[in-house]
Amino acid sequence: MNILLIGSGGREHALAWKLAQSPLTEKLFCAPGNPGIKNSTSVLADTPEDLANFAELNKIDLTMVGPEALLCQGIVDCFTDRGLRIVGPDRRAAQLEGSKSFAKEFMFRHGLPTAKAEVFDEEKEAMKYLRSQPLPVVIKADGLAAGKGVVVAGSREEAEQAIKACFAGSFGEAGYRVLIEECLQGEEASILALCDGKTIVPLASSQDHKRAEDGDQGPNTGGMGAYSPAPVVDEALWKILDQQILNPFLLGVQKDLLYFRGIIYAGIMVTADGPKLLEFNVRFGDPETQAVLARLDSDLVEVLCATADARLDQIELKWSEKPAVCVVMTSEGYPGAYQKGFPISGIEEAEKTGAMVFHAGTKIQNGQLVTAGGRVLGVTALGNTLRQAVDNAYRAVEKISWKGATFRHDIASRALF
Ligand code: AMP
Ligand code: GLY
Repeated sequence: MNILLIGSGGREHALAWKLAQSPLTEKLFCAPGNPGIKNSTSVLADTPEDLANFAELNKIDLTMVGPEALLCQGIVDCFTDRGLRIVGPDRRAAQLEGSKSFAKEFMFRHGLPTAKAEVFDEEKEAMKYLRSQPLPVVIKADGLAAGKGVVVAGSREEAEQAIKACFAGSFGEAGYRVLIEECLQGEEASILALCDGKTIVPLASSQDHKRAEDGDQGPNTGGMGAYSPAPVVDEALWKILDQQILNPFLLGVQKDLLYFRGIIYAGIMVTADGPKLLEFNVRFGDPETQAVLARLDSDLVEVLCATADARLDQIELKWSEKPAVCVVMTSEGYPGAYQKGFPISGIEEAEKTGAMVFHAGTKIQNGQLVTAGGRVLGVTALGNTLRQAVDNAYRAVEKISWKGATFRHDIASRALF
């Protein structure tokens, strides 16, 4: 089969690595891909129409979309209108990620447990409501804000500033609607599942680390590391998740007539009152995917075809018992301003330890691999135990260097004690 993978980050490198292992894969095209992805042809198209034209011309049998933006723009509508097989929700269903108020209304309507929230289109009304709310309180921009649209405010001033920033246009259109949400306490976990509108199949659990610094300090990032499985998601919790979140999600999709043949990512907080939804994403998480796919023994091409064709009832996923850990190495300064263009060394030595080094923000400059983004590499390793997986990942990280290379030293540590 000819496969088209859209995206350029660590998640896409992990997807490409797994897709390439399938005997079904003949040719892999990546739009645009990254320097870590070997044996694939880079494609420069980046709009739904251009990508569909490419897929038609090159007889692509399966298209997989990494990031959310194109899903929210309606790439799935564009492909399916032309009879092209693609994994993902259509434009309307992608609002489960693209609009937090749409997602909240879906959760309320279908009885999925989540934090209380109110939606505001006017700054004055939002400020008035804020005064009646206990602290801490969570302020969210409605639309896509590259992971920066959420503030967990410990003080009223901080909350007011977050609301002001939204209405002042800090997030463009995405911020002109604001949610004020009850703050939940507990342990977070990411539940990813394949859903084809008829069947929902959960993937192995995982947890990412959103804060930039050790001990969950510092600003929120796209994700500084991840591990799978997440011990907080034990068998008893899986049962509850099935009953209270996964099955109600599927029923909601059916009742609302949403076209959803893709990945649903439920960000949950395990509270004293049980699991509650923080958010939906409609795609694989980054860096959760690096850790989760490292453990997948099934053929990813088969699994994704079954998702796109609504045959998930015929699929049973097989997982390695071994835990996996992904440590993200970043540019100094991320998620704030940072410099790029520093030569990277040691990747081969790191790979010799058995780890997988997924590229996230790299490029080739004058024949040399250099840093080209905030998140640069996702160093991923398996182990017989979580402790061993952590040690294996950090042993590989130590081999890699560039000027200002930064990483958290405590990935998965909360699961070890
Ligand atoms: P989101 O993009 O909605 O997942 O929010 C990003 C992060 O903000 C989450 O991973 C949580 O750490 C935090 N967060 C979001 N909503 C809440 C909430 N209602 N209570 C506490 N923390 C939250
Ligand atoms: N790791 C969080 C996300 O992919 O949104």
